[in-house]
Amino acid sequence: MKTNRFFSVSLACAFLAGILATSCKSPEEVALKKRKNVFIAGSKTGEEGGNTAGTGWNPSLNLPRGGVGSQNSYSRVPISEPILAMTFDDGPHPTNTPRLLDILKARNIKATFFVVGSNARRYPHILRRMVAEGHEIGNHTDSHAYLTKISSDAIRRELSVTHQAIVSATGVAPRTVRPPYGAVTSEQKAWIKAEFGYPSILWSVDPEDWKRPGVSVVTSRLVSGARPGGILLAHDIHSPTIDAMPSTLDQLLAKGFRFVTVTQLISLEGRG
Ligand code: NI
Repeated sequence: MKTNRFFSVSLACAFLAGILATSCKSPEEVALKKRKNVFIAGSKTGEEGGNTAGTGWNPSLNLPRGGVGSQNSYSRVPISEPILAMTFDDGPHPTNTPRLLDILKARNIKATFFVVGSNARRYPHILRRMVAEGHEIGNHTDSHAYLTKISSDAIRRELSVTHQAIVSATGVAPRTVRPPYGAVTSEQKAWIKAEFGYPSILWSVDPEDWKRPGVSVVTSRLVSGARPGGILLAHDIHSPTIDAMPSTLDQLLAKGFRFVTVTQLISLEGRG
């Protein structure tokens, strides 16, 4: 379908190019280019669309004003229904992430991927697959930076560059940030929410899968820690974590849990 349309657009381009001497792009390319152009990453010069005051809303992000949720950060959402958000950090990884996507797809589970900008630029096709299959992509900074150890302007650059990489790959803007290591101050949470609209997403269960404790340990920690409204942390760059997912997800489903993305979970806040 897409190939046919591209082919016909290409033919039309080839024909028109000689007459109009103009460049031609598919509708998808044009739409992506428009989105790219509205975002001026990390601008400090005060021109239209850039960050100016340093604490105000950044209109170039093209996001709903006020951002996501009532709070500046979440480690869970206080609801009583058995609903969870499964989150995967640090990817995408060229083989582990597609394997995880297959596992999620087989169970019709939607997850949230907090990607680092450098990986997003290397594997944009994996980001496009995430979006196509209903998952959410969040911002995990460009270089996996320790936010409490760098300047506010350096944080702005980390977030802006990654925001741009995600938009460039998918056409969809990220709406949340996961601070690497969970390291973020209250003050930083407040201005990041004010400027980027991102709440800082922490977690309610950390299986410490990056320490490679073994597949069954990762599963038992996630399953035993799950509570309604929980945000579960894992890393899709580690192969044993992916190995742990079929059993983890099947046990949680058997316990009656349903899975939503982080912003979907936040949208349930206030339901008690
Ligand atoms: Ni991380």
